[in-house]
Amino acid sequence: MPTIYEKLKSDHDTHRDLLAKLVETEGNSDERRELWKSFYYDVSAHAAAEEVAFYSPLLAESDGQAEGRHSVAEHKELDDLLQELNDTDMSSPGWLTRLRTMKDRYEHHINEEEDDIFPVAKDVIGADRSGEIAAEFAERKKEERTLVDEKAEEALKD
Ligand SMILES: [Fe+2]
Ligand SMILES: [Fe+2]
Repeated sequence: MPTIYEKLKSDHDTHRDLLAKLVETEGNSDERRELWKSFYYDVSAHAAAEEVAFYSPLLAESDGQAEGRHSVAEHKELDDLLQELNDTDMSSPGWLTRLRTMKDRYEHHINEEEDDIFPVAKDVIGADRSGEIAAEFAERKKEERTLVDEKAEEALKD
């Protein structure tokens, strides 16, 4: 069973790959719509599950609070950028400009998680809880994914 660190890193790599493909897309194309949907759904579920399974045990320890707060604040900032992209017409040039901004912010965020936060978490949370946290992350991500899909369906109906 992969550790929580391997699971998070593997999601991040999927997101890096989708973003690299997205910046190459043009206008309101099927390719752009499909890639955006894959990225948006997965990153939303990832961030929500990461907060519950990974950041909450980190925030519970005084040595992990600064890192935890910093990352959760970045999640909020990123979520605002994601919603802005959802609300922008894909065929407008502004969409790609906003995507590039979000891509830079997101890549900064996941590089920081991997390079700065994981080492602190490994110290603070300890290896013995990593399996339990990985299982909780997988479970929550599945649940969050269903919620995100439902919300998206609702938005499409409006
Ligand atoms: Fe994150
Ligand atoms: Fe992450």
